[in-house]
Amino acid sequence: MAEPFDPRLLEGEEFRLDPYPALRRLRDEHPVWRHPRDGSWWITRYEDVVAGFLDHETFSSSIMEQSHSAVFGPSLTAMDGDEHTRKRAIVAPEFVGRRLDAFLPVVERNVRELVTRFTEKAARELVDGFAAKREVDLVDQFSARLPVNVIVDMLALPQSDHDRFRRWYPTFLAGLSPDPALRKAGIEANREFHEYLEPFVRERLRNPGDDLISKLCAAEVDGERLSAPDVKAFTSLLLTAGGETTDKAIANLWWLLLNHPDQFADVRRDHALLDRAFTETMRHSGPVGGEPRLTLRGTRVRGVAIPAGAVAHLSMHSANHDERVFAEPETFDIFREDLYFGKETRVGHREGGRSSHLGFGLGKHFCVGYQLARTEAVIGSRMILEAIGDVRIKPGRNPRMGEGVAMRSVKSLELEFEPA
Ligand code: HEM
Repeated sequence: MAEPFDPRLLEGEEFRLDPYPALRRLRDEHPVWRHPRDGSWWITRYEDVVAGFLDHETFSSSIMEQSHSAVFGPSLTAMDGDEHTRKRAIVAPEFVGRRLDAFLPVVERNVRELVTRFTEKAARELVDGFAAKREVDLVDQFSARLPVNVIVDMLALPQSDHDRFRRWYPTFLAGLSPDPALRKAGIEANREFHEYLEPFVRERLRNPGDDLISKLCAAEVDGERLSAPDVKAFTSLLLTAGGETTDKAIANLWWLLLNHPDQFADVRRDHALLDRAFTETMRHSGPVGGEPRLTLRGTRVRGVAIPAGAVAHLSMHSANHDERVFAEPETFDIFREDLYFGKETRVGHREGGRSSHLGFGLGKHFCVGYQLARTEAVIGSRMILEAIGDVRIKPGRNPRMGEGVAMRSVKSLELEFEPA
């Protein structure tokens, strides 16, 4: 009989900096575990997390109504069944295939602008004597900016309002937490954002263009146009879902590569390896730890009965480090043979000893922006490598993974680099 699991192991600084030892104990000793205080169920083995994501009849996303819909307005992430399928079909095609390709120049232009800005700034600071070397904080000057700039261009909102977007979207995100003060701030920020959007939505209803807000305004569901609150809710969701997540994934990718110099040297020699490096980053240090679901009916997982009406945590961090699927899961290895490196899909991949990472979720709510996020990370990183020479983390400034607040990430990444 396994020893009882202490719920405090899932809390606090230690868990934030390294959740993996506690998650491993859950996987090994209590793979389906009921939190004694809040009654929620933690599901931690890869097989069970996959099954949970794919069983929409049992594990419902309506749990997000209290968080996502409270902050954003009627949110795709909180919908089940037909309503979800119809509304998702409005945006999902814009983020894949040829329609996404149409936005590639937008991604490239935004990367070029940011890289030019930070390399020029670093050179100027060197000349002016503010810095001893060419230096940049890759989070502040690049990863935190690129995804927002791209989505803002896709929505055709003014880049000059960048500072407001950067203030708003982390507040929305923080508002998804159960903390009442953060929730209140999130709802308030979203009210401001909806007010800000009002004239844009009115204008695009009259004069549609090629941008995403116009597409939302023109979209019909069952012969009816989306309401203005629906359009605004979608827009807040896209800004939030596409912003902070991709920011953290790019930062984590660079932190992992710079802390694995041999693999970084391989990537420098062959930029095509960035694609693999992104996939392994999503497995090893994906920013999103897990997703909650509400059980609509009683079910049994690994023989353990979970009643209807319970909250279940599908732990992606744990599944991605399940040693039953990934050998030495704590090792970052862009050449690992047990990870599927092809394109992610909503049903996942498990064949020939290779399994997909679960960093974008699975099933009907599988991330809409999975391809956009990869494109930003891979194109962005390639263009940085082309623009700079030797690069390293500033001595004494190696950040700790897990310092980020809402998601697993590094907070900053101070680099010094040579000119190309
Ligand atoms: C590395 C970056 C990203 C990560 C780690 C990520 C992660 C996720 C995850 C785990 C889900 C599933 C949520 C659930 O099952 O409840 C999701 C859904 C979603 N993502 Fe992403 N995401 C990323 C980038 C993006 C981007 C760039 C966009 C586009 C703007 C985006 C838009 C969405 C939307 C709209 C949904 C909701 C889909 C639905 O409910 O049907 N994401 N994302």
